[in-house]
Amino acid sequence: MLEVRDLTKSFDGFVAVSRVSFDVPKHSVSAIIGPNGAGKTTLFNLITGHLRCDTGRVVLNGRDVTGVPPHDLCRMGVGRSFQRTNIFAKLTVYENVQAAFVSHRGRGWNAFTPVRDLYRDETLRLLESLRLADRAGEVAGFLSHGAQKQLELGLALALEPDILLLDEPTAGMSASETRETIQLIDRLARERGLTLLFTEHDMEVVFSIAQKITVLHQGRVIADGSPAAVRADGGHVGAPHDDW
Ligand SMILES: Nc1ncnc2c1ncn2[C@@H]1O[C@H](COP(=O)(O)OP(=O)(O)OP(=O)(O)O)[C@@H](O)[C@H]1O
Ligand SMILES: [Mg+2]
Repeated sequence: MLEVRDLTKSFDGFVAVSRVSFDVPKHSVSAIIGPNGAGKTTLFNLITGHLRCDTGRVVLNGRDVTGVPPHDLCRMGVGRSFQRTNIFAKLTVYENVQAAFVSHRGRGWNAFTPVRDLYRDETLRLLESLRLADRAGEVAGFLSHGAQKQLELGLALALEPDILLLDEPTAGMSASETRETIQLIDRLARERGLTLLFTEHDMEVVFSIAQKITVLHQGRVIADGSPAAVRADGGHVGAPHDDW
């Protein structure tokens, strides 16, 4: 579904992503791992059009999308979440998800329906599957960190992506929140036939749900393949470490 070829990005001469190539098969759950500063977020930003690459190509479903801006990629089915949450803190949980539906699908022919009633069923259904339905009326900014990250996942899903890039979906979560969130992501990906690419520091999480793992180190790919192959490779590349 996604082919990344020879992507390179430098910041003032510092090469953050260096000739990175890998594939994400359709309907797969794939992970990018590597220590802090390995270039994971930069790579995501290159794929989603938030940063422009120096060289290389991003191919989505056989189509060259290198340099396509984020909103166009979003319309082409590329969704993402951010390492730091990106929710509307002053809106309620319900309003957050509903706003995402409105922004994605527009008002349509419902010119006389009050905005707050648009996409009500879709919003409630998504909140249900995120297990946030009983918190629909709560102000998002007051949710726990874990619930905020789940809500952000909801905002990404409301845009109905085919491929979803999650940058550290469990960052800052407790062990139990992490486990819950990963189960949730895994279930949602299956239910919706999503292709998933995520970064994660918790190796237990990565090896439990990823079918394919790409290891980045100092901007370069040092291993790429099935969890078993990457684990076996760990011996001589010194990776992956428990504290990534
Ligand atoms: N806008 C920027 N300007 C200059 N340097 C940058 C910029 N963005 C990232 N870098 C540098 O590029 C390198 C890769 O950063 P990046 O954020 O992609 O790493 P990461 O793998 O996501 O790390 P983490 O696990 O901490 O999130 C780092 O050395 C970082 O300092
Ligand atoms: Mg990062």
